[in-house]
Amino acid sequence: MLKNKRILLIVSGGIAAVKVPDLIRRLSERGAHVRCILTESGAQFVTPMSLAALSGDKVFQNLFSLTDEREMGHIRLSREADVVLVAPATANIMAKMAHGLTDDLATTALLATNKPVMIAPSMNVMMWNNPATRSNVATLQKRDVHVVGPGAGDLACGEVGDGRMAEVADIVAALEAFFETRKKSGPLSGYRALVTSGPTIEPIDPVRYIANRSSGKQGHAIATALSDLGAEVSLISGPTKETDPERLYVTRIETAEQMLKACQNALPVDIAVCAAAVADWRIADAASQKLKKDDGGAPSLALIENPDILATLSAGVDNRPALVIGFAAETEDVIAQATAKRERKGCDWIVANDVSNGFGGDKNTVHLVTTAGVESWPTMQKREVAARLATQIADHMRQQK
Ligand code: PMT
Repeated sequence: MLKNKRILLIVSGGIAAVKVPDLIRRLSERGAHVRCILTESGAQFVTPMSLAALSGDKVFQNLFSLTDEREMGHIRLSREADVVLVAPATANIMAKMAHGLTDDLATTALLATNKPVMIAPSMNVMMWNNPATRSNVATLQKRDVHVVGPGAGDLACGEVGDGRMAEVADIVAALEAFFETRKKSGPLSGYRALVTSGPTIEPIDPVRYIANRSSGKQGHAIATALSDLGAEVSLISGPTKETDPERLYVTRIETAEQMLKACQNALPVDIAVCAAAVADWRIADAASQKLKKDDGGAPSLALIENPDILATLSAGVDNRPALVIGFAAETEDVIAQATAKRERKGCDWIVANDVSNGFGGDKNTVHLVTTAGVESWPTMQKREVAARLATQIADHMRQQK
C-alpha cells in the first residue's frame, strides 16, 4: 500500500521524536519515499544527519535558506507529497495549525499544502486534556486532518495518562489504511497518471497576457475518466472555467514554465496525457509594471520559446512514464501533421484533433496515432472521447504487465 507513496514527515519537538528514525525505516521498507522537515525544537531530540541517512534525502529545516528556496521552495516541498505526516505533533504545532500561524518552515508548509494531513500527537496528559488542545484537535478534525493516537501510559514527564505518541507500527498501519480507503477499484487501480489541461497564459505585463485557446473540457474529462478506472490522477491545469474534479490532485498554474515544474513534481507516474494547449512562446522580458499606452506607440514584443513539456516528459531517462500521450490540435492535414509531431516529440501515442471549427465545444473528432497505425474515431462528446481513450490506456497497461 505504501509503495512509491511520497510522505512529507514533519518532526516537531517532543521526546517521541526519538522514535522517528524507526518510523522512517519501517516506511522505507514498505517502499515509501520519506522526506523530512525538522523543526528547531525537533532537532533537540533527533539529528538531521540521522534523518537524512535513513530517508536518503536532504532534511529541510530553514524557511529562509536561500539554497533550499532556490532548489525546492516551501510550496513545492508541501505539494510534492501524497500525504503530510506530523510525528510527533506537539501541542504547539497543533495550535499553530488550527489557527493558521506560520513562523517556520514546518508551519508554512502545513498552511501551503493541498495534500491530506495526518498528525500523531505527543504531549503531557494535562496538555492533551487542556480545553485549548481539545478545541484545536476538534478544529483540525473538522478540516479532515487525520489524527492517530495518542495512546495512554507512562509519559516521559513521569506522569501517566493519554499523550504518548502512537506506536510506530500504529502510525504505519494508519497510513496504510488511509491509502487503502483512497484506493479505487478498476483496471487502472494502482497506476498513477498525470494529465495537463487548459491553456497556459504568458504575461506581457501585470495585466496583459498572450495565451492559447482551450476550455479545459477535454483535459479535465480525461483526468476524470482515468480516475473513474481507478488511477490516482494529478491534474495540472491552466486557467479554465472547469471545476476541479473530486478525488484528483489538482494543481492550478498559469504559465508553461509553471506547468512543466508541476508535471515534474507529480513524477513518478505510469501514464502522462498532455492535453493542454501550451503557449509555444512567452514574452522575453515581461514588464513588471503595466505598460502605458502613451509611452511612444505600440510596444514590440520579443518572444522566446517555452519549454516543451510533452517532449521533456517523453525524453525522461530515470522517470519516463511508461506511456506518454500527446495531443495535436491541427487545422489542416490533421493525421500527417500529428504523425510527424508524435515522432518529433518522442511520445508513444498522439491524439490528433481537427480544430478548424474552433475550440471550446462539447464535442471532438479525433484520430489516435500510435506506432501501430491510425484509428479514426467518430465525432463524440469530449467525455466519450476521454472514456474511450482511458479504456485503451487500461488495455495497453494490462498488456504491458
Ligand atoms: O480544452 P478544450 O477546449 O476542450 O480543447 C481541447 C484541445 C483542443 C486543447 C486539446 O484536445 C488539444 O488538442 N491540446 C493540444 C493543443 C495544442 O496546442 O497542441 P500543440 O500542437 O501545440 O502541441 C502538441 C502537444 O505538445 C500537446 O500535447 C501539447 O500539450 C504539448 N506541448 C506543446 C507545447 C509545449 N510547449 N509543451 C507541450 O507539452
